[in-house]
Amino acid sequence: MPDDLSIDNIAGIGPVTKQKLHDGGILNIMDLATRNISDIADLIGGDSEKASDFITKARSYLMEKGVLSKDFMSATELYKIRKSIERISTGARNLDGLFEGGIETGAITEFYGEFGSGKTQICHTMSVVVQMPKDKGGLDGSTIYIDTENTFRPERIAQIAENRGLDPLKVMERIIVARAYNSSHQELLLKAIGKYIENEGVRLVIVDSVTSHYRSDFPGRGTLAERQQRLNGFMHQLLRTAEMYNIAVVVTNQVQSSPDSFFGDPTKPVGGHVVAHMSTYRVYLRKSGKARVARMVDSPYMAEREVVFIVSEKGIEDAPEDKKK
Ligand SMILES: Nc1ncnc2c1ncn2[C@@H]1O[C@H](COP(=O)(O)OP(=O)(O)OP(=O)(O)O)[C@@H](O)[C@H]1O
Ligand SMILES: [Mg+2]
Repeated sequence: MPDDLSIDNIAGIGPVTKQKLHDGGILNIMDLATRNISDIADLIGGDSEKASDFITKARSYLMEKGVLSKDFMSATELYKIRKSIERISTGARNLDGLFEGGIETGAITEFYGEFGSGKTQICHTMSVVVQMPKDKGGLDGSTIYIDTENTFRPERIAQIAENRGLDPLKVMERIIVARAYNSSHQELLLKAIGKYIENEGVRLVIVDSVTSHYRSDFPGRGTLAERQQRLNGFMHQLLRTAEMYNIAVVVTNQVQSSPDSFFGDPTKPVGGHVVAHMSTYRVYLRKSGKARVARMVDSPYMAEREVVFIVSEKGIEDAPEDKKK
């Protein structure tokens, strides 16, 4: 991270504008570069041309400092960047295999599936595993856990930590939980995470679930367009945050359950193409007796295949018959 991320480095931002941005939670260039034009325009009095100019300058500044990749680059450069991607184990070796070793930093990974399919269990397990050293599948990092359904349980974290040989109290210390009470609040929380990411050594951001509030805040066909637009804004900002800080982002999503749903198919994830396009990896989860089956969907370079895992006192892990192999 470059030392000087002060807004003062952006030409055209004087003390008054700086104060306005500051009041809106834009504390440095990273914050500026992750926001939407309309967010910034709202803060500085509605001038979206100016807002766009500031964001472009912030991005250029970060490109010069090597934080952001350039707009145009050779495949060799891109290959080098991809090699700098780090991975976090999901806690189950088989599931890691879908991602060639674990979920990637700099990307959004989406887990979707019906109730009880293990989405929240994966989130709990990963917020423990990410704290482990690199040779044990972690990144020695902390987690920000945005909980929209009130299903985060510290007791479960303690259980997983203990069963993985870690000190539960220390592990809980490094998971920062934020309860989102509606979709607007969920958006506000995302805007505020920049300073935690830097100060607390965060390497994983979880949003469990990313769509539920949008679904209940914007019910029915009449509000579908607005719902998709807001969700799009949220996903965009998540992706920019993942790229800029080189952190992993995990989101969960439900499947359509009502027969009169807009998209028809009851095994389709909520949010339609908006969530699909922003997620780099999408994994579909389903129950199969006691086991859980995961399938990578629409991967940019990995073939579609299925793996099995179980939910246990360790969070999630390989099925016993797979561990013997
Ligand atoms: N301590 C535990 N030990 C073993 N299995 C557990 C434990 N805790 C939860 N489970 C299993 O995990 C399941 C719940 O999975 P999870 O909460 O991840 O579902 P989900 O996909 O997040 O569902 P929803 O869509 O309702 O949020 C339970 O049905 C139970 O079978
Ligand atoms: Mg859940």
